[in-house]
Amino acid sequence: MRHDGGMTEPSELLEIARSLAREVGEMIVRARTGDVTVATTKSSDIDPVTAIDIAAEGLLRERLFALRPDDAVLGEEGADTAGTSGVTWVLDPIDGTVNYLYGLPHYAVSVAAVSGSSDPRDWTMEAGAVFEGGTGRLYSAGRGLGAWIQEPGGEPARIVRRPGPILSRTLLGTGFQYIAERRAIQGAVAARMLPQVRDIRRLGSCALDLCYVAAGNLDAYYEHGLNPWDFAAGALIAREAGVRVEGWDGAPPDPSFAMAARPETFEALHEALSGAGARTMWATPKIGV
Ligand code: IPD
Ligand code: CA
Ligand code: CA
Repeated sequence: MRHDGGMTEPSELLEIARSLAREVGEMIVRARTGDVTVATTKSSDIDPVTAIDIAAEGLLRERLFALRPDDAVLGEEGADTAGTSGVTWVLDPIDGTVNYLYGLPHYAVSVAAVSGSSDPRDWTMEAGAVFEGGTGRLYSAGRGLGAWIQEPGGEPARIVRRPGPILSRTLLGTGFQYIAERRAIQGAVAARMLPQVRDIRRLGSCALDLCYVAAGNLDAYYEHGLNPWDFAAGALIAREAGVRVEGWDGAPPDPSFAMAARPETFEALHEALSGAGARTMWATPKIGV
């Protein structure tokens, strides 16, 4: 898994993930004080990419190439880079680009290291770090090591495992794709979930949604149509904090569907989402509520 033939410990990858997420996070926070304009769009004309998304991923790749030249890179804003070490870095240079563009403080840099495969259905998450732009907090985790939250200027503090609430007291996060037809279906599912939970939040950063479930600022989260870089780091952070992060029926979370909740909440949420039509989203869209 490593260029010198040995195994890379999650702790080693964790240190790199933390330092890169922080450096690039501080860079994008500084860049936010200047002009932020849309450089291009992606999945639809409401899915923006700023010049800073591109510059931030460029900096992440430059640092990784210097530190770990044999690792692969899967980043949102660049071509996939193959590697020989068995480790792939999964990068979202700005998660929450729409917030970033509008001057809303809820955005993040997400850096994860996975091994074995770069496919979320069979990769092993080794380490991850998420830097929160608005607060300067750094969330991080290493496989089997636990999850941490670090305030600016502070030391990493372990995220304490806490029990989840019953469904009707659950503050539930979710998100929507940038494709109008899919949003209509996602909106219909969310409408069916709304009367069953405490409330719903659409905060605009999947990476932070998962860190918030880990830290207890949200009780649970689900979303359809994610990309691997949206959830790679956040999923490990949540898992290491005692949160179940899964797809349907115990499958690993993947781009079709991911949900996260503490064990006490998980089954009821899984059942409610299934009943709300969340299993059959694009295949058989049932839009009538
Ligand atoms: C988006 C955010 C958002 C989620 C979207 C993602 P981006 O990532 O994570 O919360 O709902 O599905 O695409 O485009 O800001 O990197
Ligand atoms: Ca993203
Ligand atoms: Ca992004």
